[in-house]
Amino acid sequence: MENRHPEKAISVLLKEQRLYPPPASFVKSALVAGKAARERLQAAAHRSSDKFWDSAARELRWTRVWRKTLDWKPPFAKWFVGGRLNLADNCLDRHLDGPRRNKAAIIWEGEPGETRTITYLQLHREVCLFANALKELGVKKADRVAIYLPMVPEAAVAMLACSRIGAVHSVIFAGFSAEALRERIVDAGAKVVVTADGGWRKGAVVRLKDAVDEAVAGAPCVESVVILRRTGGDITVYEGRDHWWHRLTAKASCDCPAEPLDSEHPLFILYTSGSTGKPKGVLHTSAGYLVETAWTTRYVFDLRDTDVYWCTADVGWVTGHSYVVYGPLAVGSTIFMYEGAPLTPHPDRFWSMVERHRVSVFYTAPTAIRTFLRLGSDFPRRHDLSSLRLLGTVGEPINPEAWSWYRDVIGGGRCPIVDTWWQTETGAILISPLPGATPTKPGSATLPLPGIDADVVDKTGKPVPLGSGGYLVVRRPWPAMLRTIWGDDERYKREYWSHIPGLYFTGDGARRDKDGYFWILGRIDDVLNVAGHRLSTMEIESALVGHAFVAEAAVVGRPDEVLGQAVAAFVTLKGGRTPSPELKEELREHVAKAIGAIARPSEIRFTDSLPKTRSGKIMRRLLRELATGGAIKGDVTTLEDFAVLARLQQDEE
Ligand code: WT7
Repeated sequence: MENRHPEKAISVLLKEQRLYPPPASFVKSALVAGKAARERLQAAAHRSSDKFWDSAARELRWTRVWRKTLDWKPPFAKWFVGGRLNLADNCLDRHLDGPRRNKAAIIWEGEPGETRTITYLQLHREVCLFANALKELGVKKADRVAIYLPMVPEAAVAMLACSRIGAVHSVIFAGFSAEALRERIVDAGAKVVVTADGGWRKGAVVRLKDAVDEAVAGAPCVESVVILRRTGGDITVYEGRDHWWHRLTAKASCDCPAEPLDSEHPLFILYTSGSTGKPKGVLHTSAGYLVETAWTTRYVFDLRDTDVYWCTADVGWVTGHSYVVYGPLAVGSTIFMYEGAPLTPHPDRFWSMVERHRVSVFYTAPTAIRTFLRLGSDFPRRHDLSSLRLLGTVGEPINPEAWSWYRDVIGGGRCPIVDTWWQTETGAILISPLPGATPTKPGSATLPLPGIDADVVDKTGKPVPLGSGGYLVVRRPWPAMLRTIWGDDERYKREYWSHIPGLYFTGDGARRDKDGYFWILGRIDDVLNVAGHRLSTMEIESALVGHAFVAEAAVVGRPDEVLGQAVAAFVTLKGGRTPSPELKEELREHVAKAIGAIARPSEIRFTDSLPKTRSGKIMRRLLRELATGGAIKGDVTTLEDFAVLARLQQDEE
């Protein structure tokens, strides 16, 4: 497989020369049609980015118009200063006066196979009921609410209910362990946790409420837990603290005016991994976030009222926030949402749903595409996928082989592919084709969107020549950018604005080709990208050393055909402890329990010492080369003890 070795994968990307102009049939009715139209937008945004974002902002409903577009006191930005709006009002109420009133907002399918369709009017009602239920529990403006739910419509309801009353939501991916959940609840100081008795995944029930009980036992800030009945399984209900969702909403009024909120009112916290062991709470605020997610949803996905739009991301990740809930509902789209695992009960589950619900825009991750590619083309070919007209990818660089398969087998050769680059921190897509206007190259996210000043630079901030690699940065603020890290302005400054003076550093390496196209080369910090999910090496290491037998651990990423990167851990044991296959298994489980199944190492190697520099820094590069199966080629002159290397290489054999 071509991406076994990172150097090789990059050179494959560098050699990729194919150029696909947008299909003529697509351009004919595209919202941005043709190169000239794109360049006009780009030029307008370049002349005055304030005017460009002002006109995007006017697409929304405001209760008070902003005085100033951008207030930039580096590195702190305020957008649409003095304005007031409400996100739920824009995503719901605004659509009720016109033809979207009775249009499907959400079409949902549970893993066991049941379906639900919820119109905008119905969704509005559900959100009002739940918002009043939250108020009943004492939730006030700016209070934090943790949401730990499966992919059910109520996840969107809970998020929108928070934004309706100005509460700040923190959605925690339901695959995270009780321990990870507790850490996030405590950091945000959440007053209420919204969960379900369980959710369906791979034919089994994930016992969410048990994890919440364990987490909340160590989170004194939590006053109430709301439980959605999803699976009907046995759970413990703690009198006084726990409340059933259906009981609360049965008593609630459906009259809940949307609270007018300041443009910079905090909307949500979303935890993501950085280069230290402690997850960081990325803070997004209201107006700028919605302006840009709505704009990008409309133009990157070229959305129309007749589309059925399916983004396969879970609401636990930023993609689920921006491109399942807020962006698509703001533009009045019909969202398709699926609860469960992609291959359950059969490997053609996704394609069966595309066929039955006539999905027209489909947005997923390269890791999923590679999984499907390996299963073979028969599964998609069993289904009529002719409703699809546009495909998207996000989360990691897509290898050209997967790109071509996606285009030919899923898209039938007629659908443009938008490879969208962005991050939890950016809030919205920054680099992507406009599908009716940007010729695509397999593996490249192409060009920055209008209004986005991205570049590839060296350590001093100087642009590198076309063709050379460097750091991916953004020069000027954009409306949906993170405002800070929850409770830690210093870390915000340090992690994003101090690596390269005056510029936002993304943590990614990139290269621009002769046409100025961006090729993302992946993370250059201590962050792994496993199946499109961000994990910090230090977070996994601290989980490992949390085990009583472990003295020291070093975690690196190893290229993996399906996951993109897999977690490889080097572990030294405390004196008197002996390595064994059982202990390996125990340590893998230990990590899964501490963080979640996504962090479970694919590989653990025991060693009696780790390669270190004289100053005691672990030489990850050497470990990476070992984990990748290659010989150690790089510079080893700073290595303290050469014998370690020899032993590590021997362990291999
Ligand atoms: C990191 C951000 C944004 C939603 C999903 C992940 C990588 C993201 C692409 C792409 C190459 C990509 C980057 C980025 N990434 N999209 N289209 N091509 N790499 O969000 O967990 O915040 O991770 O994902 O390395 O920095 P996230």
